[in-house]
Amino acid sequence: MVKDSTRSKDNFERLLSRMNPLVEQALKRYAWPQSDAPRRLVEAMSYSLQAGGKRLRPMLVLAACEAVGGELEPALPVAAAFEMIHTYSLIHDDLPAMDDDDLRRGQPTCHKAFDEATAILAGDAMATYAFQAILTHVSDPAKAVAAGRELAVAAGLEGMVGGQMADLEGEGCTPSADELRYIHEHKTGALITAAVVCGGIMGGADLQTLEKLRSYGKSIGLAFQVIDDILDETATAEQLGKSPGKDSASNKMTYPRLYGLEGAQKYAEELISKACEQLQGLKMAEGLRTIADYFVARTH
Ligand code: IPE
Ligand code: IPE
Ligand code: MG
Ligand code: MG
Ligand code: MG
Repeated sequence: MVKDSTRSKDNFERLLSRMNPLVEQALKRYAWPQSDAPRRLVEAMSYSLQAGGKRLRPMLVLAACEAVGGELEPALPVAAAFEMIHTYSLIHDDLPAMDDDDLRRGQPTCHKAFDEATAILAGDAMATYAFQAILTHVSDPAKAVAAGRELAVAAGLEGMVGGQMADLEGEGCTPSADELRYIHEHKTGALITAAVVCGGIMGGADLQTLEKLRSYGKSIGLAFQVIDDILDETATAEQLGKSPGKDSASNKMTYPRLYGLEGAQKYAEELISKACEQLQGLKMAEGLRTIADYFVARTH
């Protein structure tokens, strides 16, 4: 894997230069509120969205849409919606009541730059604006319902929010493989999986293909959080744009705690190989393969 990591990063850079203009266009069109809502709220939303971030979830929407032979343009509102739900989850994750972080995407966290109430409301507004984007701008009603439902399930009680609760409850506990898997598959994996499935939905994939995409998404989603746990122990604030060392300080359940750093890395690599097996038979899946490889090769 180490010998392949330069190639993974090169492939990823190429994919990024192709996809990034589309993602930024999607965010500009569907995620910057043009409204007479209180300025401070709109500013806080823009602040967190514009701070950067790798934009991996919207890229996954587009890469999955491409993998099934779909047109990318109609998928742009869905791509923007995923980045909004993700950004809202980060704003809330960083709050003092949760992980209590001061640095995000290389800048002060939303509650530091503004205040806690504004950060809570900016997250709330972004969460609902995501669904507004899908239900307003996806022109095929059947696709809007299917993608909207997929995102709702992944973002909420049975997905990310449930996972975040389990993550907080797990602080200070000895990690068990089952509990840790539940936490990571829900707090992080669910949204990543749904991004892939929604890309497939927007591209018009049949049910069998959607299930393959779901299975690919589940594996890369779990691997993504395993690597996030590793980077929390091994990377610098400059690399990450967020403060490292927070997991051990809060005594979080993590994969390095369960399997050690090397064991966790190996586990993530196994998950990525398993994910890519699901892509056999998809003609245009190079983007999804590239993202999967990048998920374990990344250094931030
Ligand atoms: C960080 O996600 C939070 C997790 C779910 C692990 P990313 O690493 O994708 O964060 P950004 O979007 O690049 O800031
Ligand atoms: C975050 O997990 C998951 C969500 C935001 C839903 P982490 O708490 O590990 O993410 P970072 O490390 O703060 O980015
Ligand atoms: Mg957290
Ligand atoms: Mg956190
Ligand atoms: Mg983390």
